[in-house]
Amino acid sequence: MQSLSFNNNDKMPILGLGTWKADPGGVGKAVQEAVRIGYRHIDCAAIYGNEAEIGKALEEVMQTGLVKRDELWITSKLWNNAHAREEVSIALKKTLADLRLDYLDLYLIHWPVATRPEVIFPRKADDFFSLAEMPLNETWAGMEDCVENGLTKHIGVSNFSIKKIEELNSAKIRPEVNQIELHPYLQQEEMLNYCKKHNIYLTAYSPLGSGDRPEAMKAANEPSLLENSTVVNIAQAHGCKAAQVLLKWAIQRGTSVIPKSTNPDRLAENLDAANLKLSNQEMADLAKLERGFRYVNGEFWTMEGSPYTLTELWG
Ligand code: A2P
Repeated sequence: MQSLSFNNNDKMPILGLGTWKADPGGVGKAVQEAVRIGYRHIDCAAIYGNEAEIGKALEEVMQTGLVKRDELWITSKLWNNAHAREEVSIALKKTLADLRLDYLDLYLIHWPVATRPEVIFPRKADDFFSLAEMPLNETWAGMEDCVENGLTKHIGVSNFSIKKIEELNSAKIRPEVNQIELHPYLQQEEMLNYCKKHNIYLTAYSPLGSGDRPEAMKAANEPSLLENSTVVNIAQAHGCKAAQVLLKWAIQRGTSVIPKSTNPDRLAENLDAANLKLSNQEMADLAKLERGFRYVNGEFWTMEGSPYTLTELWG
């Protein structure tokens, strides 16, 4: 499996297993099956509510001798209600306890959005801290503390615009990864070029369009990636699945990609996408699908009176 190499020579496998929406009761089995067939990169987050089950599954799979800790790349993410500098390492220690690990490979600020400590999902304007009240530089200092204390090897961000990355101007450690929504309908070329120039890796989330999102997060008449005729025609030409075309598109652009599945056949299918080779013409045809469409548009942070707006969020 191809990987992305960091300054200290650590390597992140380019294709990982996404665990957002992987239900408790199924996620542990999916993680074990994934590791059994060759996945070595698992993408987690405290807010997904399934880290304890993933931790149990990882512990079991390591006890069998199938993999060692240093052969796995484990990412997790800091939730919005723990952005105060001193809260960051407390949140990471909870994640490590749930995952039954001593350290993470990568810890990300999940969103450039802060809420009060007691608020998991904001329902009203008062639930938020503005970024003036809770500056991202403070949160980032907490992330740096985690590296210094050996709780994580690498740190990065998620859902950050270029402007927000640039706002981390007091950083001693530069963000090494930005995990954002990326697929042929949202190609984010400017971000891709910016990150290449600044040695930041991109990880593509929702690469298949996250069709299993809660209905409340879906717009009417959303475009389907898996049924797009260009994607389907390329898949037919290769005798492969549409999902594999989408995943290989991400890999060929040099981004890592974290499709979620809890189904053994689709786990294998997704892993196998790494072996596909798309031609320049196919990449060019996929490039034409850009339409600036977000499946995860961040509207849940922009209720009336909220200090956050979509323009401010995405830049
Ligand atoms: P399942 O878990 O039943 O396999 P994303 O990674 O963009 O969030 O998309 C996840 C959604 O895509 C889930 O509904 C998942 O269902 C489905 N999915 C995962 N892999 C494939 C695949 N190879 N083909 C079709 N659907 C897939």
